[in-house]
Amino acid sequence: MPARPLAPETAESMARKQREISVSEFFLKNRHLLGFDSPRKALLTAVKEAVDNSLDACEEAGILPEINVEIVETDERRFRVSVTDNGPGIVKAQIPRIFAKLLYGSKFHRLRMARGQQGIGISAACLYSQLTTGKAARIRSKVRGRKAHALEVHLDTRGNKPSVLRDEVIDWDPVFPAPDGARKARRFTHGTRVGLEMEAAYVRGRQSVDEFLRQCAVVNPHLQMTYRVVLRKDQPGPDAAEQPTPDVPWTAFRRSVNGLPAPPREIKPHPHGVELGVLIQMLKDTRARTLRSALQQDFSRISSRAAEEICGRAGLDPRARPTRIAHRESEALYRALGETKLMRPATDCLSPIGEEELEAGLRKGIRADFYTAVTRPPAVYRGNPFQVEAGLAYGRSGEDTGLSAEDPVRVLRFANRVPLLHMAGACAVTRAVGSVNWRNYGLTQPRHALPVGPAVILLHMASVWVPFTSESKEAVAHYPEIIREFTFALQECGRRLGTYLLRRKRAAETERKRTYIEQYIPHLALGLKEILNLNEREEGRLVERLTGMLEHSRLDL
Ligand SMILES: Nc1ncnc2c1ncn2[C@@H]1O[C@H](COP(=O)(O)OP(=O)(O)OP(=O)(O)O)[C@@H](O)[C@H]1O
Ligand SMILES: [Mg+2]
Repeated sequence: MPARPLAPETAESMARKQREISVSEFFLKNRHLLGFDSPRKALLTAVKEAVDNSLDACEEAGILPEINVEIVETDERRFRVSVTDNGPGIVKAQIPRIFAKLLYGSKFHRLRMARGQQGIGISAACLYSQLTTGKAARIRSKVRGRKAHALEVHLDTRGNKPSVLRDEVIDWDPVFPAPDGARKARRFTHGTRVGLEMEAAYVRGRQSVDEFLRQCAVVNPHLQMTYRVVLRKDQPGPDAAEQPTPDVPWTAFRRSVNGLPAPPREIKPHPHGVELGVLIQMLKDTRARTLRSALQQDFSRISSRAAEEICGRAGLDPRARPTRIAHRESEALYRALGETKLMRPATDCLSPIGEEELEAGLRKGIRADFYTAVTRPPAVYRGNPFQVEAGLAYGRSGEDTGLSAEDPVRVLRFANRVPLLHMAGACAVTRAVGSVNWRNYGLTQPRHALPVGPAVILLHMASVWVPFTSESKEAVAHYPEIIREFTFALQECGRRLGTYLLRRKRAAETERKRTYIEQYIPHLALGLKEILNLNEREEGRLVERLTGMLEHSRLDL
């Protein structure tokens, strides 16, 4: 029987189906947007979100970070991820919303350089865990001077609301295995531990958790971290999932710097980057009573003179009520803001890694012959200050160095000190590396592609707001200002590499010629002996002198 044709919808029938979508329902369907598209990537993303949070919390609280990461295989394709830190801890009342409510956090509404910015990272990991195993997130937290709490929280996706399944006061201090393999563990009176069980796959390689943590240690030399993966084959018995055998050793990343990076300051938006809609909202929300004071208080870099000038240019009264301007004259104000010359944004909101640290990091992680690093002066995109850094290591190809002369160079990408391991092709960083003409600097390069050679290029973007291409924070968006800064930094590294390669080529050429001449010294001496009637002793002295001359000039190299 032929299928009955579907009755067309009417506005009324459609209206009956239209309803609100909660943010959790949306991301449950679109978990790939949050970096949970495959079991392998899910493991990395969960660890990344927890470690990013731990580092942010420690740095904000002025605590030298100590982090422990443990991954235990509990069943086929199932892992329990536990990340413990010695951060300030989390106030009990906040735990449910932090871990079981999407878009809840302390970083979104401020302009300050941090690893997290969206308020979705750790709750997304909890949501994924819940989706694939049905298990609640297990959180322990201790604030100094208070009792520790253990909570199990669950996310109600319909309303994007947390529910608490267990809430207990416990006797707990965060304890960390000694990083140097000594027996004595390190104990703190404050910290947080996140425990998530999830469907995942553990794989080694370029995009693995191991690689992420290794790169993390390179760009965070103040971090002390211990890490282990306990696979089922390493566990003695069926109870092992609860009590992993201590025989699996911890990999330790010891800190090489005993101080925290300079704490980045929080800033207000710069007027040159603010869009019209945002300006209107700011005028509506401001606590200031007059337009002049709103401009001065809510933006950075507007002096009282500049405020007067902006108002004058827009034909507005500086004493006008901001809410009134928001409704009627915001466009004139917006234009005047763009036309008025203002100081560039302040840059103490940024905390770059620094040339010395960057080069030291490369030396620690890569066996090469030549190293260089460049930190660019701060620049601005859409009013947001940012700063880029580039490092380059060049060496011999070989198994011992891990470098290859036939393959494209390896590019390590970082944003606010977080390694970016996925979506390289979509990232502004990769675009910048490909846009530099590396042939000028002695490397081969297919057109608009990555250069080929035994080298590693490290790139870092530090900003109060990193414009990622998606919520999973894997690739930097293609803002021309950002690509330009990366290109400048790379060109400087390239020039230095070019000078090094040229000098090395010249030295090799001279050496080749010298070795060649050296072979002829005895023949030359013999010829001279015959022509000049020299005796054996004089001939010997002649050989000695000629060799000496060559050696001498070799020392001058
Ligand atoms: N280990 C921790 N110690 C202290 N506070 C934490 C910890 N983990 C998370 N928080 C708090 O919980 C908030 C939410 O974390 P979440 O990872 O969801 O978002 P975020 O870090 O602000 O941004 P992003 O989505 O980019 O990661 C953080 O802003 C922070 O205030
Ligand atoms: Mg986070």
